[in-house]
Amino acid sequence: MRVAITRGVSPGIARCELTHLERAPIDLERACTQHDAYERCLTSLGCDLRVLPTEPDLPDSVFVEDGAIVLDEVAIITRPGARSRRPETIGIADALGLYRRLVHIAAPGTIDGGDVQVVDRTAYIGLSERTNEHAVEQVRTTLAPFGYTVIAVPLTGCLHLKTAIGLVAPNTLLINRNWVDASAFQGVRMIDVDPAEPWAACALLVGDTVIYPAGFDRTCARLTDAGIRTREVEVGELAKAEGGVTCCSLIFNT
Ligand code: GLY
Repeated sequence: MRVAITRGVSPGIARCELTHLERAPIDLERACTQHDAYERCLTSLGCDLRVLPTEPDLPDSVFVEDGAIVLDEVAIITRPGARSRRPETIGIADALGLYRRLVHIAAPGTIDGGDVQVVDRTAYIGLSERTNEHAVEQVRTTLAPFGYTVIAVPLTGCLHLKTAIGLVAPNTLLINRNWVDASAFQGVRMIDVDPAEPWAACALLVGDTVIYPAGFDRTCARLTDAGIRTREVEVGELAKAEGGVTCCSLIFNT
């Protein structure tokens, strides 16, 4: 069974963390409508939803991806780089503990799940304003017994690694090379975002379909040309909170 953990949009989302975006008014009702459609899309692609209670006092809590790194062998509960986000992990750990052994990142390590992209047995970890070398080392130690290689990847200009790259097919990344050094991903097939669409790399592969944000028509056409099936979703209100299609779920097999 494929499970997706999600959480409703916090009524406090207007107070979300912002790093690379100017604050813009977020229409809460519209954000919730978009999130509902995103959840329906997950369901239609075979995910069994586990919806966590909405958290009015945790503005960024809809972005559950940042609270954990879920692999077949273990779930690593993160220590988010933004202090305001650290309490988000409590409910996520409770939910994941039903399915996986849990390992917790300890101080001074900080890491957001959005900075971690696993491709086969390699975990690429973005060194961002949220994720530091201490956490990378803890992840490396945790995953070594399972045969994973961990590679740290410096980032510039964007919040998370998964803003700069997205897994769109086995061993295939969509990439914005202006935000991450492509040479880090040796042996991985790459599709570049259209230069006019720098924010277009964030994509969520579910089975053999990519959940993809509406509005990036040129890059979407590149995916189609590469034989990749896409399902577009509107996430414009969530994007104002610096979140994307990967951030809103934690997907794993049971
Ligand atoms: N607003 C999403 C984040 O900063 O983590």
